[in-house]
Amino acid sequence: SVLFLQGIMHPVSVARLVMEKTPHVYLSGEGAKIFALENGFKEEKLLTDKAKQAYEQWKEKQQYIPKISPEHHDTIGILAMDSKGRLSGACTTSGMAFKMHGRIGDSPIIGAGLFVDNEVGAATATGHGEEVMRIVGSHTVVELMRQGHSPEEACKKAVERIFVIAKRKNKNLDEIQIGFIAINKKGE
Ligand code: GLY
Repeated sequence: SVLFLQGIMHPVSVARLVMEKTPHVYLSGEGAKIFALENGFKEEKLLTDKAKQAYEQWKEKQQYIPKISPEHHDTIGILAMDSKGRLSGACTTSGMAFKMHGRIGDSPIIGAGLFVDNEVGAATATGHGEEVMRIVGSHTVVELMRQGHSPEEACKKAVERIFVIAKRKNKNLDEIQIGFIAINKKGE
């Protein structure tokens, strides 16, 4: 996994190289950037005019109220099974918009944003990362499948757990959006 990697177009491909080429599990920030550049990735200006404009507007009030909505969110989770029944997965995101500098979401946290266990199944998450991280969501989904739940039941149970915790903390449930996808060894 890579975290806090700025200016590289496809961090998911850098993450794959961390898995394949290094003895480590995570690289972050400057170290991840150096590793990416050493492995042929190019630094690019990725800020679009639209995003820059939205940021300038945000600066007028500077409120750290991360927003989850299709316009403010871009997490992509992928799970796949090959012809031999082997599972793999990837998860990539710019993270929520309008967050504090240095904030890490669930996507690069293994077990939160993505978890693949080739004995059982795989899961990945999108939505409000803080809520997903609190229950180590994707790992929870895979463990529920290990206990015999179908992928759909496992995803539902993980979402329910998040909502129970959010309710306990008196959060406004309308402001929380979470999604999981999952696949088991049968390809369901
Ligand atoms: N799920 C992505 C994030 O919270 O940033």
